[in-house]
Amino acid sequence: MLAIMRGTILLVGCGKMGGALLEGWFKRGINPVDVMIVEPAGRTAISPCGKHPALSCVPVVRDVPRDFHPDVVVFAVKPQIFDATVPEYARFLSDRPVYLSVVAGKTTAAVRALLGPTAEVVRAMPNTPASVGKGITVCYAAPGIDDLHCQICNVLMSAVGKVSWVKDEALMDAVTAVSGSGPAYVFLLAESMEKAGIEAGLPADIASELARATVAGAGAMLEQLNDSASDLRTNVTSPGGTTAAALNVLMASGGVQDLMTRAIAAATQRSRELAK
Ligand SMILES: NC(=O)c1ccc[n+]([C@@H]2O[C@H](COP(=O)([O-])OP(=O)(O)OC[C@H]3O[C@@H](n4cnc5c(N)ncnc54)[C@H](OP(=O)(O)O)[C@@H]3O)[C@@H](O)[C@H]2O)c1
Repeated sequence: MLAIMRGTILLVGCGKMGGALLEGWFKRGINPVDVMIVEPAGRTAISPCGKHPALSCVPVVRDVPRDFHPDVVVFAVKPQIFDATVPEYARFLSDRPVYLSVVAGKTTAAVRALLGPTAEVVRAMPNTPASVGKGITVCYAAPGIDDLHCQICNVLMSAVGKVSWVKDEALMDAVTAVSGSGPAYVFLLAESMEKAGIEAGLPADIASELARATVAGAGAMLEQLNDSASDLRTNVTSPGGTTAAALNVLMASGGVQDLMTRAIAAATQRSRELAK
């Protein structure tokens, strides 16, 4: 699978998401000598550096050696510093790399405005389960991007989970709201079940264990079985039983579906605002 990815990678920002990507790449066989990291916190802040002495890390882009010619430049810095950080990477334009940005709310047009109109730009929205190899990333390629560059981005992002592509960049706001922010909704579900379990009389440690294992187990069923979420729910709901009693509350007007629709609309709107 990595046959097309023999080149060099410049990773800009190696925090939670950059670090997850790095771990995934190494697990998929990318050679640490082919990776250069720009990270102000330095080597000691990056856990894979300890395991891979050949990995190069510099604090600022001007320290990237002149003979390092990246095939891919991956931006994994916070959106707040993006505009100030990206222009310095126009220095690599003559190497014709693909610039892969995982930065939330930054459009491909915004990246091109900072680098130049000829920059090959792919935008990606991963999510935190990437840190355990179970992420889902949605990618969008700016107009005119070379197919090989899309394939390279696909390989790099599939190192941390599944990958989908959209042809309309406007959809990235809803993607951000559903899968980018989505893990937090599921964690909230586990938290709420735990608190409700305590309210129902369970000791805190048991309530926590039950909530975690139930969310994880149900997630594994969603992953491994082909049935829709709706069918899986129906299959475990006997008429007049305990599950039905709970679902009568959760599915009532103003319940989970209405709340989720409002929550995702709010996140989509916030993503649009951040892009401005
Ligand atoms: N985490 C997620 O689940 C997730 C999901 C989807 C998308 N993303 C996107 O991924 C990006 C990174 O998020 P994160 O959660 O990984 O944040 P993070 O943990 O804060 O990582 C950002 C890293 O960039 C470093 N950095 C700061 N200034 C830099 C510079 N000028 N050059 C290079 N590196 C610099 C930071 O170092 P210091 O800490 O020393 O400042 C930090 O290590 C964000 O744009 C976010 O929208 C994240």
